[in-house]
Amino acid sequence: MDLKTYLSERVARIDKALGIFLPAEDVLPASLHKAMRYSVFAGGKRIRPVLMMAACEAVGGEVEAVLPAACAMEMIHTYSLIHDDLPAMDDDDFRRGRPTSHKVFGEALAILAGDALLTEAFILLSHPDRGGRIDPGICRRVIRIIARAAGSQGMVGGQVVDMESEGRSIDLPTLEYIHTRKTGALILAAIQCGALIGGADDASFEALTRYGARAGLAFQVADDILDIVGEQDVLGKDIGSDQARGKATYPALLGLEESRRRARELRDMALEALEPLGPGAEPLRQIAHYIVDRSC
Ligand code: IPE
Ligand code: IPE
Ligand code: MG
Ligand code: MG
Ligand code: MG
Repeated sequence: MDLKTYLSERVARIDKALGIFLPAEDVLPASLHKAMRYSVFAGGKRIRPVLMMAACEAVGGEVEAVLPAACAMEMIHTYSLIHDDLPAMDDDDFRRGRPTSHKVFGEALAILAGDALLTEAFILLSHPDRGGRIDPGICRRVIRIIARAAGSQGMVGGQVVDMESEGRSIDLPTLEYIHTRKTGALILAAIQCGALIGGADDASFEALTRYGARAGLAFQVADDILDIVGEQDVLGKDIGSDQARGKATYPALLGLEESRRRARELRDMALEALEPLGPGAEPLRQIAHYIVDRSC
């Protein structure tokens, strides 16, 4: 299996579906829909929707069935990026290779574009012809998993502790708390939803949950490392911004080398979690490597 081909084929399917699911630019209010689409189609890696599809595939499910939930997840993730970049938060100027939403549309519209993307995700998830086409019991579980992962004890909660930790020295458990929530929660939820929609039995769901928790944390450790060693053009976002803001990161707490070691260790633990799964989990295995080796 060639991961590059696999990823580009998946990203193309996700982008096409997002184009259909998001309100068109000329739908009123056009300025809002333009801002929503500007950030969604700026060229993200789509790792969360790809993971959702790969988890579904790993348990023998039909990947087409996860497209609405996968797109909903990408909308929520994009909202989190728009808000993360706001002056009140990380105050960053570049994202996905373009000026950030608030730089182009102003702060008010950037906030509202984020709000609308979050809401649109749940419209899609509960839509009878889209997300709602899956079994009603599974649909309810998927909505609940995504909502909890995005909420005060998930991504938003992680962002709060991330902000409150700026310029302070925190311990490793607190850092792990931040990272598993601000980033790990949505990644884990994507994998769990893919597993559920794919019809996973309890044992596979548990295995994929372990994989998702480890891969999710590894993803943010790699993000912290890339903020130091990455190239801005390749990464598509500001580098060095963590250090400038005194962010709590793995390299700040443990140093670069130990952070790299930790990322590899988490990758290996994620791979170990996949052992009970068969060859259908091969994409997930390769993605675990990609998460720690990536340059953007
Ligand atoms: C960046 O996420 C923010 C984090 C949660 C670490 P990604 O690295 O997935 O960003 P895109 O979606 O590819 O732009
Ligand atoms: C962002 O973490 C997490 C969320 C957006 C929820 P970072 O602040 O490290 O992400 P980047 O580096 O700006 O993409
Ligand atoms: Mg941040
Ligand atoms: Mg940021
Ligand atoms: Mg970062």
